[in-house]
Amino acid sequence: MIYGKKVRLRPIERDDLPRFVAWFSDPDVRRHLTIYKPFSLAQEERWFEKMLESLERQEQVSMAIETTEGVHIGNVGMHAINWKDRHAELGIVIGDKDYWGQGYGADAIRTMLGLAFGEMNLHRVFLRVDVDNVRGVRCYEKAGFQLEGTLRQVVFREGNYHDQHVMSVLEAEFAIDE
Ligand SMILES: CC(C)(COP(=O)(O)OP(=O)(O)OC[C@H]1O[C@@H](n2cnc3c(N)ncnc32)[C@H](O)[C@@H]1OP(=O)(O)O)[C@@H](O)C(=O)NCCC(=O)NCCS
Repeated sequence: MIYGKKVRLRPIERDDLPRFVAWFSDPDVRRHLTIYKPFSLAQEERWFEKMLESLERQEQVSMAIETTEGVHIGNVGMHAINWKDRHAELGIVIGDKDYWGQGYGADAIRTMLGLAFGEMNLHRVFLRVDVDNVRGVRCYEKAGFQLEGTLRQVVFREGNYHDQHVMSVLEAEFAIDE
């Protein structure tokens, strides 16, 4: 376990996969993710196997987010880990909508940043977020991310192209903020 204030992070287990199927079957959950259609359990099982392999190659880290009461509410991860330039891209989903907007996302990210900067010796963690994902942008600002720039019309969704912000937090900023 990696402990935050409101959440704890643990490795993803095969038993978690049916929950992923339920979460990603909800269009509201998928809306701002790269996942644009539901996944079957068989697809999740294949994802899980690939995830284990890339974990062994140290290309990414994926963790389950649990409340301190032990309810699995989402996942947070860092992928495209670059060990030379010491950066990685963060992704997060709180799959259970009942838990949105209560500070779980920001705490899960802060907890993951503790791992990134305190244990993995990364220098920069960045993410991409749809400009119209107001909850997401606010969550990332709370977690210490700053806006770097905006990618124009980079995502096609619901029949239109949408802009995405690139946001990042640096090692020194996280330490100061702590
Ligand atoms: C984005 C996500 C990870 C954020 O996690 P969360 O636990 O909901 O976020 P938090 O509660 O920590 O922070 C959200 C903030 O946005 C605010 N907020 C929520 N809806 C808002 C809205 N419509 N307008 C303005 N602010 C809003 C909340 O009040 C909160 O700010 P506050 O603490 O200052 O009040 C989560 O909502 C989620 O997984 N959504 C679906 C998938 C997704 O969008 N993933 C991210 C892709 S980049």
